[in-house]
Amino acid sequence: MKKKVTKAVFPVAGLGTRFLPATKANAKEMLPIVDKPLIQYAAEEAVAAGITELIFVTGRTKRSIEDHFDKAYELESELAIAGKVDLLEQARDVLPREVTCIYVRQAQALGLGHAVLCARSLIGDEAFAVLLADDLIDAQPFALQQMTQRFDMFPVSILGVERIAREDSRKYGVVSVHAGAVAERLYRMQGIVEKPEPAQAPSDLGVVGRYILTPRVFDHLAAIQPGAGGEIQLTDGIAALMKEEAVMAYEFEGTRYDCGSKLGYLKATLSYALKHPEVGQDFAAYLRQMALLR
Ligand code: UTP
Repeated sequence: MKKKVTKAVFPVAGLGTRFLPATKANAKEMLPIVDKPLIQYAAEEAVAAGITELIFVTGRTKRSIEDHFDKAYELESELAIAGKVDLLEQARDVLPREVTCIYVRQAQALGLGHAVLCARSLIGDEAFAVLLADDLIDAQPFALQQMTQRFDMFPVSILGVERIAREDSRKYGVVSVHAGAVAERLYRMQGIVEKPEPAQAPSDLGVVGRYILTPRVFDHLAAIQPGAGGEIQLTDGIAALMKEEAVMAYEFEGTRYDCGSKLGYLKATLSYALKHPEVGQDFAAYLRQMALLR
């Protein structure tokens, strides 16, 4: 197995029902936070972690994602003619040149585990990353960079986790870990369960959308039956993997926004807008003014 993680899977074939009608004809991952779609934040995080092959598992709304990472000849020439150099750079430099984008189709939204399995033939026999772009993580270094650093020391599957409120356990895969950290913020996992009731949740460590997985997980994903919600769950594939390999949970440093939910999306928009070099100051002034008006 290769030592470095160079391939990342972006499952973007979910139905995004919590964001209808915005997601009727567009992927949830194309929703912008200020001026950049969620999928671009995730792609930039992957590239910063050393990923050179981005594999998008797309569904019905694939066009917009492919178009986003393609060269936009017409737009670029219009901007060039108009001498709008800054905008031209923004349109052109969506990804560095050495990065390759590959698209594979998930014909039916049968679950996250199934979406990851769709990338199997493109991954081969090496460890790979999975990023769920609707989990936007504000961190420096990026969450996936923190995880690939841990992988360099412990080349096993590593799941990004964060502390969650117990009453929210139904929204997460929840892990149990062995006592004592293996390294800073890194724990050996004991078990994992998808969307448990609060009373059954094994801990307050919830899985978020960042994974490094060994290729053996594909054998398990191919063998498992639909689980919670009738979907082929990535969590169930990882639970099966844990019976034969060590799997770690990494409590990343940073702030995660659940941009698959309206409230999380609004919080992310607010936070990123306040930090934005172009509009941040004016937006802060506007918010202060709003507060005074009330
Ligand atoms: P979610 O659980 O957020 O589901 O998927 P969803 O369908 O996208 O959104 P809601 O719940 O209906 O609003 C988590 C991630 O897995 C991908 C999604 O695109 C998202 O990034 N996914 C999920 C797939 O690619 N295929 C699937 O069959 C299911």
